[in-house]
Amino acid sequence: RATGPAPSDRVDLIVVANRLPFDLEPQPDGTTKARQAPGGLVTALEPILSHRHGAWIGWPGTADVELEATTTDDLVLHPLRLSAEEVDLYYEGFSNATLWPLYHDAVADSEYHREWWNAYERVNERFAERAAEVAAEGATVWVHDYQLQLVPQMLRRRRPDLRIGFFLHIPFPPAELFNRLPWRTQILAGLLGADLIGFQLPGGSRNFVRLARTLLGVPSNGGELQWEGRRIRAGAFPISIDSAAQSALAATPQVHAEARRLRSDLGNPRKIILGVDRLDYTKGIDIRLRAFGELLAEGDPAVQDTVLVQIATPSRERLQSYKAAREDIERTVGALNGDYGRIGRPAVHYLHQSLPRQELAAFYVAADVMAVTPLRDGMNLVAKEYVACRVDGGGVLLLSEFTGAARELKSALLVNPYDADGVKDALRTALTTSAVQARRRMRTLRRQVLTHDVDRWAAAFLSELEGTRDRLAEARDR
Ligand code: ADP
Ligand code: F6P
Repeated sequence: RATGPAPSDRVDLIVVANRLPFDLEPQPDGTTKARQAPGGLVTALEPILSHRHGAWIGWPGTADVELEATTTDDLVLHPLRLSAEEVDLYYEGFSNATLWPLYHDAVADSEYHREWWNAYERVNERFAERAAEVAAEGATVWVHDYQLQLVPQMLRRRRPDLRIGFFLHIPFPPAELFNRLPWRTQILAGLLGADLIGFQLPGGSRNFVRLARTLLGVPSNGGELQWEGRRIRAGAFPISIDSAAQSALAATPQVHAEARRLRSDLGNPRKIILGVDRLDYTKGIDIRLRAFGELLAEGDPAVQDTVLVQIATPSRERLQSYKAAREDIERTVGALNGDYGRIGRPAVHYLHQSLPRQELAAFYVAADVMAVTPLRDGMNLVAKEYVACRVDGGGVLLLSEFTGAARELKSALLVNPYDADGVKDALRTALTTSAVQARRRMRTLRRQVLTHDVDRWAAAFLSELEGTRDRLAEARDR
């Protein structure tokens, strides 16, 4: 774009993320179809930004789509077009086949290609350019996630007047993994363009501070760093959900009726185990299926008259690693149903679909056991959604200790997803736990989730971000 919006149209709070909150698809009749975009980032940020009437810069989810900025009731959306080649190299390549596996404990192999990196740089540059156009003088720009780690530095060069925050939704890896990246110093320098760099957990923040010190010689004192004459803060800000809204949704008569109908549609089983995830190899969907399968094979009384429902949103479907994960999951579901199902009564109900929020809430209300078993996850909002939905105080959360959520949800049944026997034992325990014991655990979990919601997260991050600038002004005045 040759010209940006008029200064009067510029806004004071701007979120920059790879995706817009809605996938926007132009239709042949000239209208645009909007659908909620997948993933936790959107779940968390959409209510926050709507309450604050900010602007959101992001990709509309389809290659080669050029759309004008649009204003919804609560937000201004600035769609950024990505070409098919950019989607291929920057999004599927560098973001999701280099960074994603590396940042998730290298649970899959990463590929390192110079042309992917070049595209990552170019696309980050375009996001920074757009943010520089849209931001009012002195505005706050909040950049999100691993796809855009170079934006803070690129934006600061263009607009030193801005207050820039960055939040990483996924884990930040230790030196042993991060150092593999041929472009490790550029990424650290990119992040250091921000005034405040937020991570899900203190461990991620410590990894970053240590790497900035060893690779770039950045002096630090706790979470306080100095770089190019600026003071920068790094710290942990565990993200959350709109707990009250989720809880209120689950309490509606419609959701209750739907939960009862689901149970009856499933054949009124004694117990329902639920999994809800993007179909991603980090989520450990295969692990919970196998644990359930082993209990069925052993004829364990805990799984008598029990069904497992797995709802998996399609995700990053053109990537080979995702295709392989899907094939493995679907083969396992088929085998379990072949071995243990009966006509009209499958052992596993599997949906490869994205469901409306209300229907998902009904599943949460209906499920006796929620199985969340990732090999690694920055936070995992599904675990928090389940807890928020258990207005009745019942239900058991089985949670991988390698999720960010496990730090806060200590009363869940914590499991090591690499320990097949451990997962099986935990699943058995979850299915046989007494109602009193389940309620006791759920009470503690609910207290945590209801008091630590996404508003609190955003307020903590944004007020700390404001503070970083104040400290900077003080330092300049001195
Ligand atoms: P990630 O960001 O890696 O996808 P999270 O668990 O943090 O993982 O967030 C996932 C979000 O996507 C949650 O808000 C969840 O409700 C939503 N979600 C997951 N699966 C589905 C589905 N099948 N249909 C609709 N929403 C889904
Ligand atoms: O935080 C995880 C995350 O990658 C977000 O950045 C993203 O919005 C979400 O998962 C869904 O992934 P994708 O945008 O690749 O579909």
